Amino acid sequence: MRLDRLICQQRDWSRRTALKLLDDGQVWVNDKVESNPLFAVDRFAKVVAGGRLLQAGKPALYLMLHKPAGVVSATSDPKHPTAVSLLPQAWQEELHIAGRLDKASTGLLLLTNDGLWSRRITEPQLKKPKTYLVTLANPIDPDTARRFAEGIYFEYEGITTSPAQLEQLSSHQARLTIYEGRYHQIKRMFGRFRNPVLTLHRESMGPIVLDRRLQAGEYRPLTAAEIAAI
Ligand code: URA
Repeated sequence: MRLDRLICQQRDWSRRTALKLLDDGQVWVNDKVESNPLFAVDRFAKVVAGGRLLQAGKPALYLMLHKPAGVVSATSDPKHPTAVSLLPQAWQEELHIAGRLDKASTGLLLLTNDGLWSRRITEPQLKKPKTYLVTLANPIDPDTARRFAEGIYFEYEGITTSPAQLEQLSSHQARLTIYEGRYHQIKRMFGRFRNPVLTLHRESMGPIVLDRRLQAGEYRPLTAAEIAAI
């Protein structure tokens, strides 16, 4: 929200009062004087104006979880354990998942309460790379890498996937980098070759790489550098 609008939410303050407070250096955002009425404040910012605390600000949370197989990427589910239930109770209500994984998939799951940040990693238009280790039921068809690089047409969504890179590691295993996160995307891509996916493990999302020290089910906060890299 614009800073001047936030200030005007005070019933007894007119827009004129708001602009005067800004002009007089009487407005602080995160303990720094701010005089630009158009300054964008999110719900994480602490805002003080004319000696009043207008918004206390919330701590922004950013976590990486090593998702184990068998938990669903959801905040609640009537039947299955959820990824969020692996985190401390106090955070469970707050967090959402930035880029889901299927129940059987493992690896990097990002969770945050910052919706703008999570959109920067999940918006298909922004084409952030996501890298997966994939094990297949059948030997990988020699034409797979070429077809994935051309893009695979998904009739349901009416889209062609962005060129994906397949690095073949063995007859049945590959590292695949894709740029969207469509529903069951990788299974559907290999489905074109009638090759079922046996295991799927996400290694990275954009510049954020799953920390090798995390066992399945463990999590850690992101570092300042990881948060800023998105
Ligand atoms: N593609 C899939 O098919 N499943 C996942 O969990 C992630 C990508």
